[in-house]
Amino acid sequence: MAEDLIVTPNLSKAQQYQALYPQVQALVVGENNYIANAANIAAALKQAFGFWWVGFYFVEGNELVLGPFQGPVACTRIALGRGVCGKAWQLQQPIVVPNVDEFEGHIACSSASKSEVVLPLLHNKTVLGVLDVDSEYLNHFDDTDVAMLQPFVQLLIPTIVYAKGL
Ligand code: SME
Repeated sequence: MAEDLIVTPNLSKAQQYQALYPQVQALVVGENNYIANAANIAAALKQAFGFWWVGFYFVEGNELVLGPFQGPVACTRIALGRGVCGKAWQLQQPIVVPNVDEFEGHIACSSASKSEVVLPLLHNKTVLGVLDVDSEYLNHFDDTDVAMLQPFVQLLIPTIVYAKGL
């Protein structure tokens, strides 16, 4: 069942995330296909916040491989430790980058991207992939985004675990 998202203007960032979460939860819960769920999570975040790029990379061997996303075309494969995504995978922790030009090794899929936040998809101390959100504005992300994006990531993880038989 597809439904329109309700996006209320003039809310704080935290309130926007709070308003969005139950709507995404309703889309994802009961659906076992992690690609479908990742696609809807990316679409919902893009629609609600207008981020430049929102998407997932999934671990395959020693690389991250591009998954569902919303935004301009992006790099297909990222090695462990490379760029912000590869670093978040290696460190197994979220990374907020206020200015991508100041992050050594940042991978510029799009020159319009100025700041980003990456959250690893962690299951039993294993990274299954990452959520990457990019903005065309500097300093767009902070700890609120990390905290409020975490539940969206948590929604997806069980379906990846299910698909991979982990
Ligand atoms: N900037 C990311 C690469 C992915 S794209 O931005 C979509 C990085 O440095 O890992």
